[in-house]
Amino acid sequence: MEKRRGKFIVFEGLDGCGKTFHCKVLCEYLNSIGIKSIQTCEPTKDEMGKLLRRYLSGEIETSPEGIAGLFIADRLDHITKKGGLLELLDNGVNIICDRYYLSSIAYNAQNHSTEWVYNLNKTAIDLLTPDLVVFLDIPSFKEDRISSRGEKEIYETQEYQQMVKQRYEEALSMHKGAYVKISSNRDKKDVVKDVRNEVLKLF
Ligand code: TYD
Repeated sequence: MEKRRGKFIVFEGLDGCGKTFHCKVLCEYLNSIGIKSIQTCEPTKDEMGKLLRRYLSGEIETSPEGIAGLFIADRLDHITKKGGLLELLDNGVNIICDRYYLSSIAYNAQNHSTEWVYNLNKTAIDLLTPDLVVFLDIPSFKEDRISSRGEKEIYETQEYQQMVKQRYEEALSMHKGAYVKISSNRDKKDVVKDVRNEVLKLF
């Protein structure tokens, strides 16, 4: 018997754009109207994700290439592990994911072209392309923002985030699936409404 597939919805944007809040609100809403959904994120909360957090906090160091590779390892594990994204989707669960491969392109190309990091991500993209990417657009990174963990991470500088913003444009133009750009620099209620309208078109 053919299994029903759930939808894979990804949120992207600069640090501080409100992704985490909007993922949560969307997930609660979908469940409240009977569309079974779960929320997840990258870096994941598993061992590789925890290791990535140590690099991101600056506690330990490696090369930008090493970090790029580890994000891909974490992503492939997220997708293919027992109980991972593919299995959940095959069981008809809808997934709301806070960041996916477009973040790799925007943040991890550093000494390379965006094509370099896109190609590194090819296996993940072929295994699982989002049904919809919701890009939450803000004009610039808010430097005074305190992250969810209460500490600054290595990418949280104005200069780096300006590069990330440009690279997101390239990432979106390379992305083969559907995406919407929603301005997140507005009243949260309006953003919630626009996100819902776009996502409900999938069902
Ligand atoms: P996130 O948890 O969204 O940040 P926060 O909760 O602090 O707003 O993401 C953590 C950082 O990981 C963010 O700076 C972007 C970075 N990142 C990459 O560099 N590459 C990737 O592939 C992903 C998924 C995230």
